[in-house]
Amino acid sequence: MRIEVRNDAPLQNATPCLVLPVFQGASLEGAALELNGLMNGLLEEIVAQDGFKGSAGDTRVIYPNGQSQANRVMLLGLGARDKVSTPVLRRAGAKAARAVRGLKRDSFALVVPSIEGIEPHEIGAALVEGAMLGLHVFHDFKTDAESREQTIVNAVTLLASENREAIERGAHSGQLASEANMRARWWVNLPSNKKSPQFLAEQAQQIAQVNGLRCEVWDENRIREERMDALHAVGMGSDNPPRFIVMEYAPEGHENDAPLVLVGKGMTFDTGGYSIKPATGMEDMKDDIGGAAAVLGAMSALAEIKPARRVLALIASAENMINGRAQRPGDIVTARNGKTIEVLNTDAEGRLILADALSYASEQNPSAIIDFATLTGAIGIALGQEAAGLFCNDDAWCERVTQAGERSGDRVWRLPLWDEYKDHVKGTVSDVKNIGIDRRAGSIAAAVFLANFVGEGIPWAHLDIASVAFIREDRPLCARGATGFGVRLLLDLLRD
Ligand code: BES
Ligand code: ZN
Ligand code: ZN
Repeated sequence: MRIEVRNDAPLQNATPCLVLPVFQGASLEGAALELNGLMNGLLEEIVAQDGFKGSAGDTRVIYPNGQSQANRVMLLGLGARDKVSTPVLRRAGAKAARAVRGLKRDSFALVVPSIEGIEPHEIGAALVEGAMLGLHVFHDFKTDAESREQTIVNAVTLLASENREAIERGAHSGQLASEANMRARWWVNLPSNKKSPQFLAEQAQQIAQVNGLRCEVWDENRIREERMDALHAVGMGSDNPPRFIVMEYAPEGHENDAPLVLVGKGMTFDTGGYSIKPATGMEDMKDDIGGAAAVLGAMSALAEIKPARRVLALIASAENMINGRAQRPGDIVTARNGKTIEVLNTDAEGRLILADALSYASEQNPSAIIDFATLTGAIGIALGQEAAGLFCNDDAWCERVTQAGERSGDRVWRLPLWDEYKDHVKGTVSDVKNIGIDRRAGSIAAAVFLANFVGEGIPWAHLDIASVAFIREDRPLCARGATGFGVRLLLDLLRD
């Protein structure tokens, strides 16, 4: 997508579609007011008589009859002026972009509103993110012409008469975040016959090479040598063996910083193993790579965002399948930190591979750890698709992650890690067991399990993204399928 910020007079911009923002319940202003004058009050008529009230995301297309250089003019409702926020702007940007796609135009120019209380760069970022993410489609395996037309819009111009520099900066950062987000969506949307732990490792290597990052990939032998018995056990039921991926971003002067460590669950498919999942809905388990995708997506943008700090990314990747070497319910494995785990359910595999990854993360003298995992179905029962579950052992770290989520649009909500829950995963014949008590507090049980593998005193945040990584119905910023959840949160956190 080509993104450009210009300060042309809107009515002079020769675009296939000029998008003019309109606030609900306010009189027309700027270019809309000017066009209204040139068209003998037509725009006011539309608002007064024809049902277009400027409510958030509402659009109305008019033929400007030569009064604008644009081929079509689109009124874009932003809702009441005092209710406009960055989420409203993102959604409005997406609505406008999709409406332009509906008109089969290849580009549009959008007049940037100024809004009290929202910085110009935030406005620029929100509009660009809305347009880019709203237009994203996964059509790699579609061969018909109509599907290809879904990508017809290839350029967006923001028209800004003031604060052009700040808007440009915001538009650029919105573009970077959206591109990184869409990379993550792609890994998740890919069907599992087109991805494997080795494929994911190659993607990481490619990203590292393009961006000048260090990248190391451990194969199944190295994983075992490194005492990652849990990851090894989960991965050995598949003909696609497990991989452990280490990436490092270390800008000059920060090579010896205590790193922020990002950890991602990268199951390229999860059948459940011998504790097999029901057939209905199993196809969605291609999304079990969502945590890894978030981490890798964020890493792919670091070379451009250039945070002045060291960042390590750790991805544990495996495929949970069934064969003669697959683990059995009741098996006991030893994680890298020495704790023994009774595998009472082979479908609770995410926490097993994360046990090794978090143990390794804890050895890296981290300033903090944040992990992303499509870990439990239960988190969707608790929070639906409106937020990821956040579990954190440190209030200040929790606050930073929450704020990054709020600002970026990747919302999170904290759930407790109280000591009482720790008993839920206490082992009988081992140190810990990989499931809790019955169906009680499933997401918390998983989180307290993970806490066993985080070193003393290390600020750690765990994000259970099982219900937000993949959506089953279209939304303004995301078509049905992968959401890329976590990428924008991470980039916000790293910019902070
Ligand atoms: N990958 C699943 C969790 C999941 C569920 C992801 C729905 C995306 C959408 C995870 O490995 C899993 O199977 N968890 C089990 C744990 C249970 C056996 C304790 C679950 O949530 O049912
Ligand atoms: Zn599972
Ligand atoms: Zn899983």
